[in-house]
Amino acid sequence: MIPYLKIAQTIPTPFYVFDESGFIDNYKRLCGAMKKVYPNYMLSYSFKTNYTPYICETVKELGGYAEVVSDMEYKLAKKIGYQNSQIVYNGPSKGPLLEEHLRNGGILNIDNLEEAKRVAEYAKEVRGTVKVGLRLNLNITDSFISRFGMEIGSEELEKTIKILKSADIKIVGLHCHISRNRGIEAWKKRSQIMIEAADRYLENTPEYISLGSGMFADMSEELKGQFSSVPSYEEYAVETLAPFAERYKDEKPLVFTEPGTTVVARYLNFVTSVLSIKKIRGRYMANMDGSYENLGEICTMKDLPIQNLTKKGGAIYDAIDIMGYTCLEQDMMRKAYKGSLAVGDVLVFENVGGYSIVSKPQFIKPNCRMVAYTQENKVKEIMREETFEDVFSKFSFKSNG
Ligand SMILES: Cc1ncc(COP(=O)(O)O)c(C=O)c1O
Repeated sequence: MIPYLKIAQTIPTPFYVFDESGFIDNYKRLCGAMKKVYPNYMLSYSFKTNYTPYICETVKELGGYAEVVSDMEYKLAKKIGYQNSQIVYNGPSKGPLLEEHLRNGGILNIDNLEEAKRVAEYAKEVRGTVKVGLRLNLNITDSFISRFGMEIGSEELEKTIKILKSADIKIVGLHCHISRNRGIEAWKKRSQIMIEAADRYLENTPEYISLGSGMFADMSEELKGQFSSVPSYEEYAVETLAPFAERYKDEKPLVFTEPGTTVVARYLNFVTSVLSIKKIRGRYMANMDGSYENLGEICTMKDLPIQNLTKKGGAIYDAIDIMGYTCLEQDMMRKAYKGSLAVGDVLVFENVGGYSIVSKPQFIKPNCRMVAYTQENKVKEIMREETFEDVFSKFSFKSNG
C-alpha cells in the first residue's frame, strides 16, 4: 500500500505517484502469460504513452524493447542506453534520425510509400543489407478506417514492396496496431490476418511480427465494471499467440506487442486537494489544485476511481462535480461524484498513467512533480515541478532587446 497521505504531508499537492512494484509485477504477469504460450514473445514499450525516463528505464531493466514514433523518443531510448536493435521505430512521420537508426541495425516499420522511397534512396548510398518491416492497415471491423499503414491487397502496398525490392532492401517484418478494438475476438482476428499476410508478402520466415497494442489492462474492479468485458492476460495470450505457435513450428519469428496503457495506466496516480466548494443554481462543484489535463483523456470517457485520503468530515454529496484549476468550463475531473467532500480533502485519482503527463500542456500553470514509490518503499522524485523559467525561457521578450 502506498502511503499517499504521508507523502502529501511532505510534498505539496498536486503531484503524481508512480507505483514501481505494481508496475514491475504487472509487467512480469503480462510477459509471463505471453511467453508461456509463445516463448519468442517480446514486449516493446510504447514511449508515447508515458515517456517518463524512470519508467522507460524500468522497462529496459526488465528486458523490454523501446517502441518510438519520433526522433525525440528515439533520442530518449538512446540516452537511456538502448541498442538500436532493441528500438522499434514506428509512426507515420519519422524524423531525420531514421537513417541513423537503420545504419545502426535498428528495427523500422515503414508506414507509407513515400517513406519506402526515402529508405530506397538511403539504401542506394550504403553498403550492406538494409532491413525493414511494413506497417499493415488491417480491416478488423468495417466501422472505422484507420489512417496508419498500408492496406493489404492495395496498389500502394504492392508498389512499396516493388520499390524496396528493387533497392535490394530486405523486408523482414510486419507490423500493425489497432487502438479502438481491445476485445479478444479482434486480437484473434489480428493474429490470423498477420500470419496470412506474412505468408503472402514475405519470402522467408519473418524475423518479427509486431501486433501493436490495444489490450485492456489489469484494472480495479470499479473501473472494470465500466467496460463490457475485460479479458485476462492469459486469455489474450492463448487467442493471440497460439496461432503463431501453430504456424511457426521450427523457425520462430519474434512476436511483439507494444503495450503502453496496458502496462502503465494503473501504476500512476494523481494526488490533488480540494481548494473550494460552491453551489450555483443547485449545481455543487469542488475546485481542485489539479486539472483534467493531469488525468488524460480517459477521465472524459470513464469515471476514474477516487480515494479520499482525509475525509475531513465534509458534507455528503449525492452529486458534486470535481473541477480543475484551469479557466475552462469543461475542466471536469469527475462528473457527479458521490461521497463526502470538504475543503482541504486530499484525493487520489487512480489509473492515470496513459497519455497524461505526455499530453499535458503548460496551460495556465507549469506542470507538477512526480515521485516514485520505489520497490524499497522509498519516495523518490522522478520529475521535478516545472518553473516559471521552464515555461518562459523559450520566448523572446521585447524588453530584452
Ligand atoms: C503503433 C503504436 N503502438 C503502441 C501504442 C500504445 O497503445 P496503448 O497505450 O493503447 O497500449 C500506440 C498508441 O497509439 C501506437 O500507435
